[in-house]
Amino acid sequence: MQPATRCLRVALPRVHRAPRLVRSLGTQAPETSGNSSPRTTSFGFKIVPEDEKESLVKNVFDSVASSYDLMNDASSLGVHRLWKDSLISTLRPGRKGPLRCIDVAGGTGDIALRILDHAREKYADRETTVEVVDINGQMLKEGFRRFKKTMYHNTPQISFHEANAQELPPSQFADNTYDLYTIAFGIRNCTSIPDVLKEAHRVLKPGGTFACLEFSRVNNPLLSLAYDQYSFTMIPLLGTILAGDRASYQYLVESIRKFPPQPEFASMIRDAGFTTGKDVDGGAWTDLWGGIACIHKAVKI
Ligand SMILES: C[S@@+](CC[C@H](N)C(=O)[O-])C[C@H]1O[C@@H](n2cnc3c(N)ncnc32)[C@H](O)[C@@H]1O
Repeated sequence: MQPATRCLRVALPRVHRAPRLVRSLGTQAPETSGNSSPRTTSFGFKIVPEDEKESLVKNVFDSVASSYDLMNDASSLGVHRLWKDSLISTLRPGRKGPLRCIDVAGGTGDIALRILDHAREKYADRETTVEVVDINGQMLKEGFRRFKKTMYHNTPQISFHEANAQELPPSQFADNTYDLYTIAFGIRNCTSIPDVLKEAHRVLKPGGTFACLEFSRVNNPLLSLAYDQYSFTMIPLLGTILAGDRASYQYLVESIRKFPPQPEFASMIRDAGFTTGKDVDGGAWTDLWGGIACIHKAVKI
């Protein structure tokens, strides 16, 4: 099945239901897998049929899109901005010349904007480009709106595309195309992490960099306890107060706990064909704030 995609440069995306892509390849922690019963996966702490997760996740982001930035700032006390800055400063886009980048699950445009700003401000680079890809038209609309206020609007440096990270249409996202693939706080929402990684590997050029910013595993037991207390009580509460939506924010917190710990995710990245550093903090990954978030970097050889 070829998913429909849409490229946005000057027009707001017409919002429509995301193409329903049902695949039966690897899945994120399948809980059962019998011959007759459907394959299942986690949706937060719930177990759901694998082919339902995509629409459930879509409902979450449809619901949170308009309040996403406010909630993100409120629930992380603005720290997500620092983490995104850390991602960009480790990548240093523009340092070795203009890059062709793809930012997947990038609806808010946050990472794309930082890439372009960094390249321009540090290296006077106005040729780096970012293609923002997201499965959700509402989230893309938010990103597009943000870019409208910037100098990049209506330039070849930025474009927005509706597509599934697990199945990027090869006609639009060809093999060996990008120098840099980024995905921030997006991969844990995808039904099949192996499929996302496989696609990342396919579209990157040999020598290209894969970089993922994601919530991860806190190793210090005291910090972990405090973080659990905060996130399971405050974030759903803030969701209720600021967005009138407790359930979506409850899902976001739960989905963080279901995401594989750092060494397991590093191993999945290698399974997709990438090379990483050693399985230690500062090697295959870099913990931020004790592992509350984490940057994984890898190279396609
Ligand atoms: C938590 S938001 C992160 C947005 C942005 N990267 C940021 O850091 O501000 C997660 C995004 O992942 C997108 N997403 C979820 N599943 C996806 C999939 N299978 N393919 C592409 N995007 C997906 C959602 O629509 C949402 O925009």
